[in-house]
Amino acid sequence: MTGIVIEGAARSFGSVRAVDGVDLTVGDGEFFTLLGPSGCGKTTLLRMIAGFCELDAGEIRFGARRIDQLPAHTRDIGMVFQNYAVFPNLTVAGNVAYGLKARKVAGAELAKRVDEALALVQLAGYGERWPHQLSGGQLQRVAIARALVIRPQVLLFDEPLSNLDARLRVSMRAEIRELQKSLGITAIYVTHDQEEAMSVSDRIALMQSGKLEQVGAPADIYRNPASRFAAEFMGTTNLLSVGALRPEALRLAADAPAGWPRLAGVLVRAEMLGPITRLDVRLSDGTLVRAALLDDPGRSMIAGDTVTFAYDPARLTVLP
Ligand SMILES: Nc1ncnc2c1ncn2[C@@H]1O[C@H](COP(=O)(O)OP(=O)(O)OP(=O)(O)O)[C@@H](O)[C@H]1O
Ligand SMILES: [Mg+2]
Repeated sequence: MTGIVIEGAARSFGSVRAVDGVDLTVGDGEFFTLLGPSGCGKTTLLRMIAGFCELDAGEIRFGARRIDQLPAHTRDIGMVFQNYAVFPNLTVAGNVAYGLKARKVAGAELAKRVDEALALVQLAGYGERWPHQLSGGQLQRVAIARALVIRPQVLLFDEPLSNLDARLRVSMRAEIRELQKSLGITAIYVTHDQEEAMSVSDRIALMQSGKLEQVGAPADIYRNPASRFAAEFMGTTNLLSVGALRPEALRLAADAPAGWPRLAGVLVRAEMLGPITRLDVRLSDGTLVRAALLDDPGRSMIAGDTVTFAYDPARLTVLP
């Protein structure tokens, strides 16, 4: 049973404050994601938790146990990296057994636990294969099995899916989420992809320049961004004089209640993406408004058409 408490964590590299005073509590069994642009400090914070990066200030606890000054291998964590870090000169079973051997587990117990871990990631029977005989998704599952086999209290993931193609990323993220929930392990997951973060997380911490910008449930951050940065990082948004408005909050005026505010302009571009069509419309004051409408075979619009949108004023977000 391990919640994680981080208090005042800080680390600089020269003049760069990579992690700049982070306070954070992650619940027992929670799937918690650090999300933010390149260089905002996600990996540094994760490495502090793992024990690969010393803190300049602050402390980290797993439950009641302070761990930030313990050696990495005594912290009871499993870590999965972006580039698999699977050893090419060991079989799949050899890779998974690695952390157990370091912990002096041997013989029948070793074999049993390797088989269990491979079964958990749907690779039962793959133990004798070599890494070069596996696909990217299978390699990443080996890396996950290797992290799980030591039965860690905490699982850390640093962009584990970024080397996979788009379709595989979508199925693997669901697998990771289901596995974490079924094992009840506390997980901290790093990504710069907001959609991935929203799909897997119980809560997200949005980071910028070493600091936490906003912490909350995915829908909460998406619908109630606390800043312009949060509104823009969590997806496309229209920054209007009256507030921020998501593209899907706009409707064609003809389909909207009479009382809703209107926005009229000229269609610059229509992009048909299958289920939705994206429309870019230039208002008379020059503002570009982006809308996303569900596909409607009865509708046809081309660049140059005049378009009038309407929106529910309750869906405007007023930013500070
Ligand atoms: N070992 C190091 N030496 C010097 N600077 C470092 C070191 N590690 C990180 N930094 C700097 O600290 C800042 C945060 O880096 P970090 O790797 O934590 O970012 P990140 O959010 O993981 O980015 P990315 O999404 O690109 O992986 C960056 O400015 C980076 O250049
Ligand atoms: Mg990183």
